[in-house]
Amino acid sequence: MSYIYFDQAASSFPKPPKVGEAVLEAITEYGANPGRGGHTLAVRANDVIFNTRKKLAMMFGERNPDNVCFYLNATQALNQAIQGIQFEEGDHVISTSFEHNSVRRPLERLKETKAIKVSYIEPKVNGQTLLELVEQQINEKTKAVVVSHGSNVTGTILPVEEIGKITKQHGILFIVDASQTAGILPIHMTDMNIDILAFPGHKGLMGPQGTGVLIIKEHVDLVPLIYGGTGSHSEDIHQPLKRPERFESGTLNTPGIAGLLAGIEEINSIGLDHIYEHEAKLTTYCIGKLSEIEGIRMFGPGLNEPRLAVISFTIEGIDVHEAAMILDQHYHIAVRAGLHCSPLTHSIMGTNQVGTIRVSFGLYNTIEEIDRFIEAIKEIKSFF
Ligand SMILES: Cc1ncc(COP(=O)(O)O)c(C=O)c1O
Repeated sequence: MSYIYFDQAASSFPKPPKVGEAVLEAITEYGANPGRGGHTLAVRANDVIFNTRKKLAMMFGERNPDNVCFYLNATQALNQAIQGIQFEEGDHVISTSFEHNSVRRPLERLKETKAIKVSYIEPKVNGQTLLELVEQQINEKTKAVVVSHGSNVTGTILPVEEIGKITKQHGILFIVDASQTAGILPIHMTDMNIDILAFPGHKGLMGPQGTGVLIIKEHVDLVPLIYGGTGSHSEDIHQPLKRPERFESGTLNTPGIAGLLAGIEEINSIGLDHIYEHEAKLTTYCIGKLSEIEGIRMFGPGLNEPRLAVISFTIEGIDVHEAAMILDQHYHIAVRAGLHCSPLTHSIMGTNQVGTIRVSFGLYNTIEEIDRFIEAIKEIKSFF
């Protein structure tokens, strides 16, 4: 029985064949150290890295490719973004209850080490919208707003363009975690007034694991988290001011970035519209089928609201981890169970004690796979 992969929100799988080919080519044909020498192979590696920066800058509405910095994942990029801000005691940050721990934990750490204050906005408190709540929370100490573009638990899409208008008006730094949306929804940093954008290369952009990206607008001054060799300005005892070197100490993941370039090219040739439409079709179909099963409780936006291809649900009387294990072992279907690194979201949904089962779809998933999954859920239910 072929294996079904419904854990695309954690990492996309399978990757387009060209991604694997590009990784192999880097390893076998030119795997030298980019930016660490003038020889032919180093130059070739550097060209691939620069082309990837250029493609990413273009895709996300940034003029200067040198402002695109590579990390190993979104978590590292987000840590650089959040902990790189020069906070003073009493500074205030606005974030949301949707955040992943890769945003929340750095913020909580800064509460302890720098005595900053953080407001986590809950959507639709007392009927107020998220935008009204952001506006309401802003005070003279507010230095940054950090939000996830899309929830990895519920699939909710946050109104980043509208939040960007508010932060611009108040002169506040706007940081967006696009982990669930890069490669799925259009994002234009300049038009959306996003100052810092972080995302993984290994999810929607179809790159290999070990790739993450931080795009930092020219006017934003961050303190690097890591210091060391940059292959340039070696005589200087200080970290160079020049980007991307300032934020990229140590050897880059050339094979991973070569694979990411192939992933981006594939995404661009298919088109974001087509990808979103395909995923929306699968999501609508799956929600419809799940809602016909008694005892299933789903969380997140309604069917007619725009959302990501992420569905969280519980099955009455069945432990979520047990259900996920049976789906994997018996039906060969990969889903994720638990809190999905976002405990605040679960607190608001009332599922923080039990968690949810999460299915998430991608480019290569099909309606037939969802049919097989629905049959499996019905069968599991009948056993309990
Ligand atoms: C919203 C969100 N932010 C951040 C991350 C962390 O991404 P990475 O695993 O690349 O560090 C994830 C991963 O699931 C996520 O869903």
